[in-house]
Amino acid sequence: MKILVTGGAGFIGSNFIHYMFEKYSNYQIVNLDKLTYAGNLENLKDVEENPNYKFVRGDIADPELVNNLIEEEKPDAIVNFAAESHVDRSILEPDAFINTNVVGTHNLLKAAFGNGKIRFHHVSTDEVFGSLGPNDPAFNESTPYDPHSPYSASKAASDHLVRAYFHTFNLPVTISNCSNNYGPYMFPEKLFPLFITNLIEGKKVPLYGDGRNVRDWLHVRDHCRAIALIIHKGKIGETYCVGGACEKTNKEITYKILELMGKGEEMIEKVADRLGHDRRYAIDFRKIKIELGWEPETIFEDGLKNMIEWYKNNEIWWRKIKSGEYQEYYEKNYARR
Ligand code: NAD
Ligand code: TYD
Repeated sequence: MKILVTGGAGFIGSNFIHYMFEKYSNYQIVNLDKLTYAGNLENLKDVEENPNYKFVRGDIADPELVNNLIEEEKPDAIVNFAAESHVDRSILEPDAFINTNVVGTHNLLKAAFGNGKIRFHHVSTDEVFGSLGPNDPAFNESTPYDPHSPYSASKAASDHLVRAYFHTFNLPVTISNCSNNYGPYMFPEKLFPLFITNLIEGKKVPLYGDGRNVRDWLHVRDHCRAIALIIHKGKIGETYCVGGACEKTNKEITYKILELMGKGEEMIEKVADRLGHDRRYAIDFRKIKIELGWEPETIFEDGLKNMIEWYKNNEIWWRKIKSGEYQEYYEKNYARR
């Protein structure tokens, strides 16, 4: 199988490429990534020389580039990870979110359709469903969309376009709406890696508002396994909700990280809340469990311990990101297509 992965230099995309080569070493993967601030080819150093791997630097929002690449490569499937993904950035600068998440996804859909109806999997988020109250049932595949941030609104728009291409043009699509991921190669602007790396650096950790917002955490490898399963066995036209059965408040996460890193609560800095901060996300993953036999495997405390170890052992990786040095590397080495 030949797969075009978009956004493969980011957190989940790079974990997915590693996972796929581990499980399906004879597959070919073409990675199309713009290398925005969140894309980092150092995440893929160990697959660079693999003859089954090819990297192309380019923007999914460029329709000609996308169409030419798909025409040339003729992939059997496209897995779309490419996105602007950070809620706080979407509040400050929403334009890039519309361009990549909406226009970019649409370009991929058009090219998938125009080049022989290529199998298309779209990686989406639980944030499209909005925010839950403390006693509401978890999100599932029939929860109405109610996105609150420019990020989640742009992902919701892209999900609607993917479904429209299935219903209108018979494009063979699937969608996964996953809860918050954690694990290696996670960009240190997000809660887990920001807090872990700040503590290694002796800095405080900025906890938003009252710290009682709830997220449902899933280890990134479990997410990658779910996507691989959907690509191979998912029912065309269907959506699968993927979650960790691991609801935790940000305060709980913070205290756990502090405990595992041997630090005290004086390292917490309470900061102003995020605008429009969603209170609670939770996923009911019964459908993918029943239909495809998927469920989370990583126990949260084990996954978190491994993640902390990974950041301790890969200081060069995240220090280059925090200093901005990683971008100089690929500006020198990789031309834009
Ligand atoms: P990320 O920000 O770490 O990586 C995004 C990647 O996309 C980067 O490599 C970036 O360079 C690339 N990219 C951005 N704009 C592009 C463009 N216009 N053209 C080509 N490449 C572009 O994001 P992530 O956390 O790995 O998330 C990947 C996908 O999974 C996103 O679609 C996101 O919505 C979804 N998702 C993320 C989470 C999570 O917890 N991180 C949870 C559920 C779903
Ligand atoms: P984040 O990792 O940005 O994921 P998302 O907002 O997409 O769920 O944030 C996870 C939670 O952590 C969210 O409730 C906001 C909170 N948070 C903080 O309290 N401090 C921080 O510095 C960050 C980045 C997030």
